[in-house]
Amino acid sequence: MIETDFINLKVNGENITVSTGDRLLHAIKKTQKSVPTLCYDDRIGPQGTCRMCLVEVKKGQNINYVASCTYLAENDIEVFTHSDTLIDYRKTLLELSLSEIKWDDQSSEKTKLTNNEFSAAVKEYKPENIFPELEKREVAKDDLNPFIARDYDKCIACYRCTNICNDWEQASAITIDGRGQDSKIFSFFDNKLMKSDCTFCGQCVNTCPTGALSNKKIEISLEKKETKTKSICPYCGVGCGIELISDGKKVLGATPDFDAPSLGSLCVKGQFASWDFVNSQERLTDPLLKNKNGEFEKVSWEKAYEVFSQKLNASIENNGPDSTVWWASARVVTEANYLLQKFARTVVGTNNIDNCSRT
Ligand code: SF4
Ligand code: SF4
Ligand code: FES
Repeated sequence: MIETDFINLKVNGENITVSTGDRLLHAIKKTQKSVPTLCYDDRIGPQGTCRMCLVEVKKGQNINYVASCTYLAENDIEVFTHSDTLIDYRKTLLELSLSEIKWDDQSSEKTKLTNNEFSAAVKEYKPENIFPELEKREVAKDDLNPFIARDYDKCIACYRCTNICNDWEQASAITIDGRGQDSKIFSFFDNKLMKSDCTFCGQCVNTCPTGALSNKKIEISLEKKETKTKSICPYCGVGCGIELISDGKKVLGATPDFDAPSLGSLCVKGQFASWDFVNSQERLTDPLLKNKNGEFEKVSWEKAYEVFSQKLNASIENNGPDSTVWWASARVVTEANYLLQKFARTVVGTNNIDNCSRT
């Protein structure tokens, strides 16, 4: 048999081609159907623990049930994602999960702007409360951090948060403590995030499929229709992708843009502070000029430019071009930065030009 770089298989009767080494999940994602993947995050790869992504694989006369996130795609197999057996199986798994967590309509609403995979699975498979309720996981002590709320009553022990923290962010701030229903997510130093190595990157919040971890800073009103708009974090020169949440009138929060080259990674500033200054009462929206009493007064842009050019010319005439310094911005386009350095060097005559991307 000749080895090729491609694998041809069928998913629900549809011919699909993937690369050698791809998992079945990759092939399924190329179709209209999807399977719940409650323990899977692309950035950390497969764990194969939640079993929600189980599919039927027909190879010749044999039928096997495999986790599509771990099973390597093979030539000439047929994959079925929604047979009656699989639908029943996923429903039962969700019923087991529901017996160990506290889940209601509010919980579903709470996750709609971050990660709503558990809600979506509940909506699709309609589990019932048929298993006896287990004792819930402990709610983590509030360590008075301003960013992350931890409500382990909703934790299904998928361990996406610990994996993303340890393997992706490499912060090693949280780990698993205990086993089975007694297991809980634990951070060092008395389970307080503020005292641990947590950098408040927020990745655990974004990967958590149930809302057990949530963003304390985004207060979403459940009645309003919020929208998301792709943008760039306004802080450093890296320019990570964010999605701004708004109700059409006001910016309400930001979540990472997983399609951006930054793949959803953000630092504490991008995650929790890239938007709220927009609504600040202290934000400068007009040019201000000090009056003769030393108090700032609003002036027109024309007036501001006039005063600026007078003072600039006076400084250059009296003290030379090197008495000025020019700051470009990481948040404008390359052409604008180019023009500013050209202006500083050739019009003003100084090399005192810098950009915040450098730091
Ligand atoms: S915010 Fe980041 S560093 Fe802190 S626990 Fe979550 S993933 Fe780890
Ligand atoms: S807190 Fe969320 S991400 Fe972490 S194990 Fe529990 S359900 Fe999974
Ligand atoms: S996503 Fe495949 S086992 Fe959880």
